[in-house]
Amino acid sequence: MTATPEQQVAALQARYLPDVQAWLRDALADPAPGSAPGPAPGINHLLRYHMGWEDAGGAPTPSEGGKALRPVLCLTACELAGGDWRRALPAAAALELVHNFSLVHDDIQDGDVLRRGRETLWSVWGIPAALSGGNAMRVTADRTLAKLEGSGVGAAAVMWASAELNQRYLEMIEGQYLDMAFEQRPQVTVADYLDMIGRKTGALFESAMFLGALVANADPDQARAFGACGRRMGIAFQVRDDYLGVWGDTAETLKPLTDIQRKKKSLPLVYLLEAAADEDRAWLARAYADDEVSGPNVRRILRLLDRLDARRYVTQTAEACASEARALAEALGLGESRARSLEAIAAYCVSRDR
Ligand code: IPE
Ligand code: IPE
Ligand code: MG
Ligand code: MG
Repeated sequence: MTATPEQQVAALQARYLPDVQAWLRDALADPAPGSAPGPAPGINHLLRYHMGWEDAGGAPTPSEGGKALRPVLCLTACELAGGDWRRALPAAAALELVHNFSLVHDDIQDGDVLRRGRETLWSVWGIPAALSGGNAMRVTADRTLAKLEGSGVGAAAVMWASAELNQRYLEMIEGQYLDMAFEQRPQVTVADYLDMIGRKTGALFESAMFLGALVANADPDQARAFGACGRRMGIAFQVRDDYLGVWGDTAETLKPLTDIQRKKKSLPLVYLLEAAADEDRAWLARAYADDEVSGPNVRRILRLLDRLDARRYVTQTAEACASEARALAEALGLGESRARSLEAIAAYCVSRDR
């Protein structure tokens, strides 16, 4: 019996994540007294809480945090490009740290009080502390990436990796900016939306596959081709995230369904704004006049979405993005059996429930 995409991704997680976790724990450990400068005492505790390793009082907790899909993609790409995945571990850990920096700030920006089933960092320690924590996490990511040199990657390649990661997370930050700007815009086209999610989520997925290939000594064109495949995966992943942000089961996603209330122009809403009848669109503009959409108006929007079969539209869009990612994976010329893990990851991105 062939394994489902979920089972295949679980197998990749089991293969890679113990080592990624060890790198992450090391990156966020408190510096030994008198050692090289690290974050001020206390900040890393906030970050270990966010990662799910400690409770708010600092006691260890059993949780492992997120799915760590960006490290999985990076290490898979490294192996597929013919490299030793262990040499890419600093890049994999750096990607997960950048991702978590984005989540710490995102929860402030989105006003969300729950992530991975726990109170968000800002809702425990306040916004100023969470801003500092997110910034410390980002710098820790840069420092972790620089450790590629210690795993035998040449100095020029490390500089290239660092420039690439910086460029992509700048794009991610731009995407976050657009995501928030779109909340105030009455109309956002599907093209605007795809550009925004390409930045906010696609860019970091792109650097995941790019960096994996780079560590494997892929030539620049090949590394970029891996990156392009990663970017499509990220776009597919975000479309599914938008689906789950409206119709997800919170017992699975472990985060609240706040997208409609927060006026997010996530794909269901972009579709609604394009497909709704004139009178419904005029009503939506009125419902959006307040800072937040009220409970009864959220319910009416959900009914409108059902009437326009928005679930089907969003699912089909996610699947179309995933098949583009699969086509880009095939074009890498890895051979049918070796491309299978990328196909499974692409399928997982759009079938996942959490
Ligand atoms: C959540 O990312 C934010 C998005 C880009 C959609 P993940 O779903 O990868 O988050 P974790 O790390 O697994 O919790
Ligand atoms: C998460 O975005 C942050 C980035 C992608 C940079 P979202 O706001 O869409 O994701 P969730 O739903 O809070 O995880
Ligand atoms: Mg959010
Ligand atoms: Mg957000």
